[in-house]
Amino acid sequence: MSKEIVVSGIRSTGFLHLGNYFGAMQNYVKMQDEYNCYFFVADYHSLTTHPDPKDLRGNVYRVVAENVASGLDPEKVALYAQSDIPEIPELYLMLNMLAYKGELEKVPTFKDKVRLQPDNVNAGLLTYPVLMTADILIHKAVKVPVGKDQEQHVEMARNFAHRFNSRYSEMFPMPYPFNYGDSLIKVPSLDGAGKMSKSENINATLYLADDDDAIRKKVMKAKTDAGPTEHNSEMPDYIQNIFQLMHLVSKPEITDTFRSAYNNCTIRYGDMKKQLAEDMVAFIAPIREKAAELQKDEAQLQKILREGAEKARISASATIAEARKLIGINYY
Ligand code: ADP
Ligand code: TRP
Repeated sequence: MSKEIVVSGIRSTGFLHLGNYFGAMQNYVKMQDEYNCYFFVADYHSLTTHPDPKDLRGNVYRVVAENVASGLDPEKVALYAQSDIPEIPELYLMLNMLAYKGELEKVPTFKDKVRLQPDNVNAGLLTYPVLMTADILIHKAVKVPVGKDQEQHVEMARNFAHRFNSRYSEMFPMPYPFNYGDSLIKVPSLDGAGKMSKSENINATLYLADDDDAIRKKVMKAKTDAGPTEHNSEMPDYIQNIFQLMHLVSKPEITDTFRSAYNNCTIRYGDMKKQLAEDMVAFIAPIREKAAELQKDEAQLQKILREGAEKARISASATIAEARKLIGINYY
């Protein structure tokens, strides 16, 4: 039986962090043996904020290096840059004809951006979910490993796929967001407000490139309080977040010990954060070192991207040929 197809991408907009790792990359690494995987650097998506041209190459290389350092094997998957696959913008153009201004304006991530950057509400930002749909459909993917924040975008991809299928012919399978756990993940920031992110909450986000001291400092600054005064009392969000982070990187017995201490009001948050900081250092340091090493080897990064693009274009060109034919672009 042929393997199910998987697609996912990460924007090259900065340093990767624990949210990217646990929401996306950890799943990529597990999926690479079981599925036919296409993972890419969403460099076109990064253009919505007009990055300096001289930064693009380093930003893309960093995402590739951090993915490989996290365990992704470019021999097993297609690991490529979005901009190396011209069939993606072609499918994006086709899909744009089926996407309506009203529905795009209602997307919560678009509304957030309008609020955050009112002077740069460009058409690329509005049609961001359409480009993401093209990324997914170009390989006819069925599983899309992403964090919780991308759930709605994948739902839109399903809507657009369905619309294309109804107008032309049943060509695309329906894509679904995927995570190995029970539900999609949102890794919280250390300040108890919002999620870890490449560009926001920088001091409350743990990056895979952070050095040991930076990790310790950030963790020790995480918001806590004087501790519970009643047995088995409900946890405030910011304490739940610390437990959630501990659950991701510490041994289960350690998390259990602190949970019991919380429940019987003997918890010392200082000790808990020290433990968490050391477990984070042990988790992040090997990835950081491997990524730094790989970033020095430009020839290797270029080889990965070139070979990834070759693999991805085989599937992309087959999809676009089929779509052109169905639309009627078939003149000689
Ligand atoms: P960011 O939002 O940090 O700029 P991207 O938008 O490039 O990162 O997201 C890449 C992947 O990482 C997506 O699958 C996204 O859902 C996931 N992701 C980003 N932040 C988090 C987070 N805090 N928790 C879980 N997943 C996340
Ligand atoms: N939009 C995603 C994000 O901001 C990145 C992305 C672009 C993506 N294209 C994709 C994720 C296709 C999964 C599939 O996180």
